[in-house]
Amino acid sequence: MAILVTGGAGYIGSHTVVELQNAGYEVVVLDNLSNSSEKSLQRVEAITGKQVPFYKADILDRDALSEILKKEKIDSCIHFAGLKAVGESVAKPWEYYENNIAGTLTLVDVMRKAGVKNIIFSSSATVYGDPAFIPITEECPKGQCTNPYGWTKSMLEQILSDIQKADPEWNVVLLRYFNPIGAHKSGTIGENPNGIPNNLMPYITQVAVGKLKELNVFGNDYDTHDGTGVRDYIHVVDLARGHVKALKKIEDKSGLNIYNLGTGKGYSVLDIVKNFEEATGVTIPYVIRDRRPGDIATCYSDAGKAEAELGWKAEYGIKEMCADSWKWQSQNPNGYDD
Ligand code: NAD
Ligand code: WQD
Repeated sequence: MAILVTGGAGYIGSHTVVELQNAGYEVVVLDNLSNSSEKSLQRVEAITGKQVPFYKADILDRDALSEILKKEKIDSCIHFAGLKAVGESVAKPWEYYENNIAGTLTLVDVMRKAGVKNIIFSSSATVYGDPAFIPITEECPKGQCTNPYGWTKSMLEQILSDIQKADPEWNVVLLRYFNPIGAHKSGTIGENPNGIPNNLMPYITQVAVGKLKELNVFGNDYDTHDGTGVRDYIHVVDLARGHVKALKKIEDKSGLNIYNLGTGKGYSVLDIVKNFEEATGVTIPYVIRDRRPGDIATCYSDAGKAEAELGWKAEYGIKEMCADSWKWQSQNPNGYDD
């Protein structure tokens, strides 16, 4: 039996395919390559020494999905496929709701018709909005999202929970990621944003490699230790391993489960700059700018539930996250386009 990994050519998906294959799972990848390159999967094959069966297909394409489920022996799906750019989602809400929500509804419908009722879904700490308390446990109430992307995650959590409730044959794991950074130790796979990065770490690595002049620090008047925004950065390999551990809940047929995947530690923007400089020896020039609309001051997890119930805990520290992000960027200044 195999695991269908939607969005498996992307940043988190490709790292998860490595960890799944290393753990002995059979994997089938589906991706429409709208935000990724098939080269990532060739590099995964070089890392694991195993083939990655790949279908270039869209989760909105019912016929293609049915065909794959008919052909491959799939028993679970890890569902990464989705659009994820916050700013773009504000400009193109219809495209985000269509791709992420209609896409997931289509996927889940084809799955249930094929009798495949196990899914791990990529959710996000963004569902907590401006969190009611810190550190954030899974009990923290979901909040108001500030953009359509965030709402797609919040709504899909609700949809998948309702489907599980109505049909207890479903096993659903909602994984709420905090801020994934870093890359595989080989430096051959990593995050490959289109155009100018929105997220902090790819922006920093592009400044470091000389593609961008300086980092814009969005606000230094937040109520944090140095005034800049605090986040829970997590190494993408740790995050990937969290998915392998989460499969246990699927195998145990334990219904609906929700976990934060974070480290439980918060670092400010300036902490990240300092750690990056110390880990790599590269100086990051920066300027303080206005706050970015929609940003919150502080967001970090209580990751205790995943440790207690999945036996999963993030292992890599911030210096390794910075060093591994840099290794990927410096070896692949143009991502997979080299
Ligand atoms: P990514 O863009 O690198 O990967 C997503 C993949 O899905 C891409 O390869 C893309 O081509 C594919 N895809 C998009 N729409 C598709 C469709 N309709 N059919 C088939 N494939 C499609 O992003 P990522 O950072 O690896 O994120 C993976 C998942 O985790 C996403 O759902 C994202 O929203 C979620 N997530 C990401 C972060 C983050 O900061 N990176 C944080 C929380 C949650
Ligand atoms: C981190 C910190 C910025 C860029 C976003 C999404 C969230 C999730 C992860 C998917 C903040 C500051 C950033 C820059 C800066 N994605 N910053 N200069 O905003 O925590 O989360 O990605 O689910 O939904 O909202 O991550 O990396 O954009 O920002 O000063 O050029 O870095 O203000 O404090 P964020 P980020």
